[in-house]
Amino acid sequence: MSVLAINGGTPIRTTGYPHIGTAAGRTFDELEMNNLREVMASGMLNRSGGKFVPQVEKKWAEHLGMKYCTASTSGTAAIHVAVGAINPEPGSEIITGPITDMGTVIPILAQNCIPVFGDLRRDNIGLDAEDVERRITERTRAIIPVHLCGNATDMDPIMALAEKYNLYVIEDCSQAYGTLYKGKHVGTIGHMGTFSLQQSKHITCGDGGLTVTNDDNLGSRAELFANKGWPNYGSGDRDYVMFGMCYRMTELQAAVLDAQIDKVDWVTARRAELGDMVCAAVKGLDGLEVPSISEGGRHTYWFLPLLVDQEKLGVSTSKLAQALSKEGAPCGAHYIGRPIFMYDLLREKKVYGTSNYPYCLQPAGQEVRYEAGECPATEKILDDMLQVSINEKMTDEDVADIIACFEKVWENLDELR
Ligand SMILES: Cc1ncc(COP(=O)(O)O)c(C=O)c1O
Repeated sequence: MSVLAINGGTPIRTTGYPHIGTAAGRTFDELEMNNLREVMASGMLNRSGGKFVPQVEKKWAEHLGMKYCTASTSGTAAIHVAVGAINPEPGSEIITGPITDMGTVIPILAQNCIPVFGDLRRDNIGLDAEDVERRITERTRAIIPVHLCGNATDMDPIMALAEKYNLYVIEDCSQAYGTLYKGKHVGTIGHMGTFSLQQSKHITCGDGGLTVTNDDNLGSRAELFANKGWPNYGSGDRDYVMFGMCYRMTELQAAVLDAQIDKVDWVTARRAELGDMVCAAVKGLDGLEVPSISEGGRHTYWFLPLLVDQEKLGVSTSKLAQALSKEGAPCGAHYIGRPIFMYDLLREKKVYGTSNYPYCLQPAGQEVRYEAGECPATEKILDDMLQVSINEKMTDEDVADIIACFEKVWENLDELR
């Protein structure tokens, strides 16, 4: 019986992984460089009059088989563009998931709406439609399912709710490039889909966002919202036809993105392959749950979340993560730590000065609650979550080492009890 590295034994692996460190994991080469040179030589860095932003919008729309794509400055902006496009009345409620980045929530507040959080399902860490339905009121206007970690939310029941209550669905696909739900790419199932191009995502241009839709009205409003309500990106007579922000992607971002889109298929396919290899190997380990993937679905592992039955194993998630890291697995625990509504910005409901706006728009006695216990399944998921990082540059040998780390720790759990 070997001694665990956390207790002074020899680790499975002492070398790092090719992708560790935010810059190292990115897949850039001459394609991006050549495009950037072309932009600089053209002298045009702005969307208006540029070549690359319209090109990436067309490319991404075609990639997903969608009619419209609006590029913007971040994943947060992409969601804001979508919320602005659906044009909710102030005080409308928008339901989303409590494990996400604040970038999902800020656009709701920025459009004077109330973020409401539905609990998550343990099997796919996506919104639980039954819990969402309990939170729908006559003020609910939209649902924003977050396809977390690269796995798909169960969309059929979400779309059924949207139909039943006449709601918009905006899919947050920031972490879900190449992710499939019953054979369909996420982002193409709801009324709108959004993507983040922030540095850590499957593909990146440093920061950036994409909003897609098949709806003519929403497509047109999305484009206007990203450009101050000014039609045609400033060509033709000056006019401002609706409220909007200045979220235009620059030609420099789009030059990088244009090359990145050409790589997205192999990046996501390789991540899916590597993550599936780890899951297949560790799913038999006692007290460890691997993600459930829909029939015809695909997980593209922005990271691999594994859930631990701490009670059964008699070991905490944090202790397991430490032991796995010491063995040489790229492993952490608890992701965002607590439901997003437990962070001060939301918990204190202080968004605009001391006004309590937009929460004061809710009828008395019906205010949304941001308190522990509101989403118990989510709290348990975060408490039980191990995160294993996956990157397209990893080799089969890297994955074999990760698996060996899990096997060794699980064979020696007694040392951690
Ligand atoms: C699920 C999710 N939604 C929204 C965002 C916001 O994206 P960005 O950081 O590009 O604004 C992120 C990025 O971190 C995310 O992971």
